[in-house]
Amino acid sequence: MSLNQIVIDQLMSAYPAFVTYEHLIEKTDVSKNRIQHALKELCIQNYPIEIKNNQITVTSPLISTPAIAEHLDTRIIGNKMHVLPSLASTNTYAKNNLDSLSNGEVIFAHEQTSGKGRLGRTWSSPVGKSISMSLVLKPTMRFSDIALLTHLTAAALVDALEDWVDATIKWPNDVLINNKKIAGILIETEFSGGDLRGVIIGIGINTNLDQRDIPKDLQDKATSIKEQTLTNIDPNTLLSRFFTCFEHYYADFLSNQLTRPFLTVCRNRSVLLGKDFWIIDSIGKRKALIQDIDPAGGLVVTYRDTNQTVTLTSTDFSIRADNGYI
Ligand code: BTN
Repeated sequence: MSLNQIVIDQLMSAYPAFVTYEHLIEKTDVSKNRIQHALKELCIQNYPIEIKNNQITVTSPLISTPAIAEHLDTRIIGNKMHVLPSLASTNTYAKNNLDSLSNGEVIFAHEQTSGKGRLGRTWSSPVGKSISMSLVLKPTMRFSDIALLTHLTAAALVDALEDWVDATIKWPNDVLINNKKIAGILIETEFSGGDLRGVIIGIGINTNLDQRDIPKDLQDKATSIKEQTLTNIDPNTLLSRFFTCFEHYYADFLSNQLTRPFLTVCRNRSVLLGKDFWIIDSIGKRKALIQDIDPAGGLVVTYRDTNQTVTLTSTDFSIRADNGYI
């Protein structure tokens, strides 16, 4: 583990209180000079750290694996976790290192420089104010079941947020608060011939972004948990809850093909069901009444122009309201 990460873990274990240089020297066994250098580097990289004389504080809680592990109650998910300071994309990193990553292992990055979203979009992840992670799974699973993992993940996120806020889901992969997006899910797969080598569940959560951290053109459709709840949410508590909720649904899904528990959450928390939306793809746009999420995770819609009811299984389209995102 790098010195910078050890310093972050020390600051986080004291959060919201401060630590002193003496404490950091004792915990790292390096000189004050090197600690000062590490702190300077972290500040230059925009980590939310305040230094007042001998009092060093993180002003917004950062991801720290010891802090997640402290409350973790899982067998597989999060059994190994790594926090890297900066990556282009945690999904790309996980894909490139898939052979050396085991089932349930998680990669976090404090910052992503080329975060990927669905439909070729980009995903912005400012340092220390959001969660960017990829969870690696190595299941034996039918190809058609992989799509269900998006819904399972969305339901686990909503459950994990329950103590802070009532979140909703915009099928298939957006988690919202007050009709604005706070999290997105991007699942990627790797095959070798016909064999599934691994599934990478990429998750981006806007935890503690302030309004100024959200790009201007996204401010009408994106927000953060902090903006909506007016509190700095501890990402480590959220993550340990998320991993627990995820593992609970995932174990039942793998061993008993049980999908109802998480699909019920997706239906009950859906912002789409029972309403009209535009279905927009590369060919054009059509108005549809969103009827249901079927047992395989497909979206059942009735097109207004033909009155035909179909189940949409691909996700290569956007869903928009008359006047915007929702
Ligand atoms: C979306 O809503 O379009 C999906 C966004 C997914 C973003 C996450 S952040 C961590 C992981 N790494 C990436 O490059 N993307 C996903």
